[in-house]
Amino acid sequence: MKYGYFDDNAKEYVITQPDTPLPWINYLGNDGFFSLISNTCGGYSFYKDAKLRRITRYRYNNVPTDDGGRCFYVCDGNTVWSPAFLPARTPLDEYRCRHGLGYSVFEGKKNGVRAELTAAVPMDTPMEVQRLRIKNESGEEKRLTVYAALEWCLWNAVDDSTNFQRNWNIGEVELEGSTVYHKTEYRERRNHYAFYSVNAPVAGFDTDRDSFLGKFRGWREPIAVERRTSFGSVASGWAPIAALRLELTLAPGEEISRLFRLGYAELPREEKFTAPGVVNKAPAHRLLAAFETEEQFENALAELRTYWEGLLSRFSVKSSEEKLDRMVNIWNQYQCMVTFNMSRSASYYESGTGRGMGFRDSCQDLLGFVHLIPARARERILDIASIQFADGSTYHQYQPLTKRGNADVGSGFNDDPLWLVACTCAYLRETGDFSILDEPTPFNNEAGTEVPLLEHLRRSVNYTVTHRGPHGLPLIGRADWNDCLNLNCFSLTPGESFQTCSNFESGKAESVFIAGMFVRYGTEYAELCERIGLAEEADAVRAAVKEMERAVLTHGWDGEWFRRAYDAFKRPVGSSLNEEGKIFIEPQGFCVMAGIGGEEYGRKALESTERLLGNAFGVELLWPCYTEYHDYLGEISSYPPGYKENGSVFCHNNPWITLAWSKLKDGNAAFDLYTRNAPAYIEDKSEIHRTEPYCYSQTIAGRAAQNYGEAKNAWLTGTAAWSFVAVSQGILGIRPDYDGLIVDPCLPDKLDGCEITRFFRGTRYEITVRRGAEKGMTVDGRTTAGKTIPLTDSPVCRVTVTI
Ligand code: GLC
Ligand code: GLC
Repeated sequence: MKYGYFDDNAKEYVITQPDTPLPWINYLGNDGFFSLISNTCGGYSFYKDAKLRRITRYRYNNVPTDDGGRCFYVCDGNTVWSPAFLPARTPLDEYRCRHGLGYSVFEGKKNGVRAELTAAVPMDTPMEVQRLRIKNESGEEKRLTVYAALEWCLWNAVDDSTNFQRNWNIGEVELEGSTVYHKTEYRERRNHYAFYSVNAPVAGFDTDRDSFLGKFRGWREPIAVERRTSFGSVASGWAPIAALRLELTLAPGEEISRLFRLGYAELPREEKFTAPGVVNKAPAHRLLAAFETEEQFENALAELRTYWEGLLSRFSVKSSEEKLDRMVNIWNQYQCMVTFNMSRSASYYESGTGRGMGFRDSCQDLLGFVHLIPARARERILDIASIQFADGSTYHQYQPLTKRGNADVGSGFNDDPLWLVACTCAYLRETGDFSILDEPTPFNNEAGTEVPLLEHLRRSVNYTVTHRGPHGLPLIGRADWNDCLNLNCFSLTPGESFQTCSNFESGKAESVFIAGMFVRYGTEYAELCERIGLAEEADAVRAAVKEMERAVLTHGWDGEWFRRAYDAFKRPVGSSLNEEGKIFIEPQGFCVMAGIGGEEYGRKALESTERLLGNAFGVELLWPCYTEYHDYLGEISSYPPGYKENGSVFCHNNPWITLAWSKLKDGNAAFDLYTRNAPAYIEDKSEIHRTEPYCYSQTIAGRAAQNYGEAKNAWLTGTAAWSFVAVSQGILGIRPDYDGLIVDPCLPDKLDGCEITRFFRGTRYEITVRRGAEKGMTVDGRTTAGKTIPLTDSPVCRVTVTI
């Protein structure tokens, strides 16, 4: 079953009923100011950091769900309705939500009145603009009372939802014309405020939530709305809000448009006040003046469109598979931008208060983003490298506002350092910008410790070399990519973190997965060394890679597949010798991608993977699922069978298998797996899948779970980047490389060919892939040997590849 449809021309997903299985959201904003917005207009906004600069309040796990985001009410006679259905919940005569690239539109109609609400964060503007158009499509005059309301968050989202003994005293607002200023804590150490304003005189306002809502009432039925009035309440402590009221009279056929603006402003400390206690409103005035008129807003929407057209034109495909094209050309790349921006911080499942930017997560997100805006990728690589320690280990997370490592979680995730090599090499191949390797980059953000970025990569590689266990395989530390395989944790205390507790440091538990990573990224590092004239170092690293390969072949191969790890007692994990968890997906993906054991082992491993882990939605993480808790395995065995790391389809690692199949040149197997969980391909199973059909989710419950096929944790997952890598570099076979663009498609039989446009190092490559008897490539008409299109100065390059 579907709850909407893709409109590929408009690059929108159109939701046709408000009661989607879960809120289906969109992201507004690309840089500083971000908003999450659901298909019923719920959600929240923040500036840069969802924990430390939360602008509007949101209650996770609230009942009713997703209540109280952007609250619009249209009062028409005895009826009160909301254009996006919530919060009023009055059944609408028409409802539609169009989620587009950086904007969302809500269309509601009731009793002859049509409302169209468009929300967007204009480029380079710390402000969400909401345009409300109201049209009287009835035959008689309409007198409407319209409210727009939202609830402020007292900035620090954790404190806001916990420290009530303090924060019910601190709320403060200021009013000026049609603008409510939220200035809690501005009197003391905060140099920022927020505001909500409409571009027309208001008939009334409220800023105290409990006055506006009234006793025992929620956002569905505020007393002020019921009475068609405002109380002019001025918040003092408790819960400050901004509720603006307009009185509109519309002749038959008449349409009125208003702009509501939710903005954020920062000031230098000396300029905070214009009079004692009075907020300096100059920056707000400037922002409001920039979005005072319909035309200004239309321009901003046009600018957003142009921006996205430009970004998406950097990679596109035209094939006979409509669903493939819409994933590649629109939604997968869009999600890559969102994961690049958010890492794992703020979604409807990530509360924005816990983990900030993850080290490994951000490195991997970059793989799907680097072709879009290389300059931002460059900056991110340097930020990430700056939280590394001098011994090559790294903080696991950092806070986007401060860019400081998160000491609560600390380090000890032994895969982390190698991801820095992965993303830096991806950046270099995309851009050819070797100057990044010379950038002075500190350790642990400490001034004076700067060394060239290259030195960080070197230490990353050395960290693996120097941290190996009894079988010569890399020590796993607290966990590797699989955060829940905690082989050194041994926790028996409820609530204790499986990742950070240190009850037991075996110094023995090893990861075959990290070994696979090392073979792959160690090789990439060696190749890089060679290119920059470090031949000796290249040789030494290659030797270490060889040794690691041997260790995997000797101790990491189980006969039919790659083992996963060795536990603290040197016993295998992910082996036929185990009763449960006999096979894990991760080492199959990485070891085959790394080419360990060649085609023979590769094929065996992938066939076992499909046979034992394959289901209708992809490949499960492990089999058989753990049915009991094992302290020597950690969090993975804490989940009921079929959920999360205990045997769901953990989508992030499925593209590794797709890439592994592509490496073995099995286009059918690669594509088949790709389509089993690519959102557009499972749109018609939305009632089972439940999360958005236009973005990937982290997990889909496995066969062992009661709710087999149900997805959770939409949006912020490494699945986005890796799926884009799998489809663009594996299946379509377009791989940026140091000396040119590799074209090496691995298409399924059902595709006769395709046309691909790829922007690379200043040239637009127009590539036609087709099937034919005479294999080969022509570049601008000339036959070219091999699979690499050499770099060129010309702005356009036409390539034909016959497969
Ligand atoms: C809070 C604190 C208490 C303190 C009082 C006055 O109630 O919990 O310890 O004495 O404030 O500052
Ligand atoms: C989550 C984490 C990621 C980890 C994955 C598997 O997605 O953000 O870092 O690799 O889970 O445990």
